[in-house]
Amino acid sequence: MRAFVEGGGKKISEKSVLNLLSTETPKALFDAANAVRKECVGDGICVYALINFSNYCRNNCLYCGMRRDNLSLTRYRMKPGEIIDAAKEACEMGYKMITLMSGEDIGYSTNSLERVVREIARECDALIFVSIGNRGRSVYERLKSAGAAGAQMRFETSSPSLFAKLKPGENFADRVNAIKLLKKLGYYLCTGFMVGLPGQSLGEIARDLIFTNAFNAQMVSTNPYVCCPQTPLAGNKNGDKELGYRVVAVSRLLCPKAMIPITIAHETLDSNAKKIGFQAGANMLMVNATPRKYVSGFALYPNMYGADRSVDYLTKEVFSSIRALGRKTLGLDELTSLFDAAG
Ligand code: 5AD
Repeated sequence: MRAFVEGGGKKISEKSVLNLLSTETPKALFDAANAVRKECVGDGICVYALINFSNYCRNNCLYCGMRRDNLSLTRYRMKPGEIIDAAKEACEMGYKMITLMSGEDIGYSTNSLERVVREIARECDALIFVSIGNRGRSVYERLKSAGAAGAQMRFETSSPSLFAKLKPGENFADRVNAIKLLKKLGYYLCTGFMVGLPGQSLGEIARDLIFTNAFNAQMVSTNPYVCCPQTPLAGNKNGDKELGYRVVAVSRLLCPKAMIPITIAHETLDSNAKKIGFQAGANMLMVNATPRKYVSGFALYPNMYGADRSVDYLTKEVFSSIRALGRKTLGLDELTSLFDAAG
């Protein structure tokens, strides 16, 4: 595993990644990832606030409960003032990074998104990330100059045929180019994929990891698939939670300096996700800070972790888990330095 790290993971073969993913000794894999995490990014953890501001989506992904054709979902769109207030509250609670996420909703004008980002940047001492899908160059240019520091866009799967099956009407090459553009525009880039999608092989997951490497992203975010009954994939199995951690651990070995989160999907499938993930290479966690009036509407999949708790409860819970593991939360300067060093 050491050899992996020494080359920055850059020249690793698909076969070696596959071996790691299927190792019979995951404990050794997790320990190696944890050691690399400690050496390369230290003991600090970034807990960031996720504000899911709209569940309208023009896409129709087969795995996602927010797909356009799910007519049983009540749609919501937060007003600009509500988004700004939610971000300010998160900031007052101590969050140093805020992600503004929505479905691919063209119901907001570039002007209104720009105003939201500018106001949050003015009011909050935090890194602002946007996760709004493929909205084109000029939107991202304007949000960057309004003060957004990072952008999140997963490629979801690096298999063009699986992508075509799961994301009808979308084009794999377009998505990859959109992700590359974010980096070119100077954003801290977060990308990644889903683990355990119906029809996805372990070999494809190994290739997804290698593909991720090519983006030189500052943040690598993966999560297990959680089956959603209101989709054409209803009745399929959830992704394997342990494989989810293996992917986190291998991401750390391949991208030693990256910021790597444990996600809400990991927590949805496993009440021990924080403890296991933070000791398997992860150094970030997200808290769902969407106003409770809207939280259940962002229904990518059912029973999303934390939706039935207050933001205050979740915040206390995560800070106490971090302390219990002997780790600490990152301040804004430390967080910025890590992002700067990562890509
Ligand atoms: N299970 C897990 N993750 C999902 N996403 C969408 N639907 C699901 C699901 N059913 C993920 C996608 C998307 C992110 C916002 O949520 O990776 O990029």
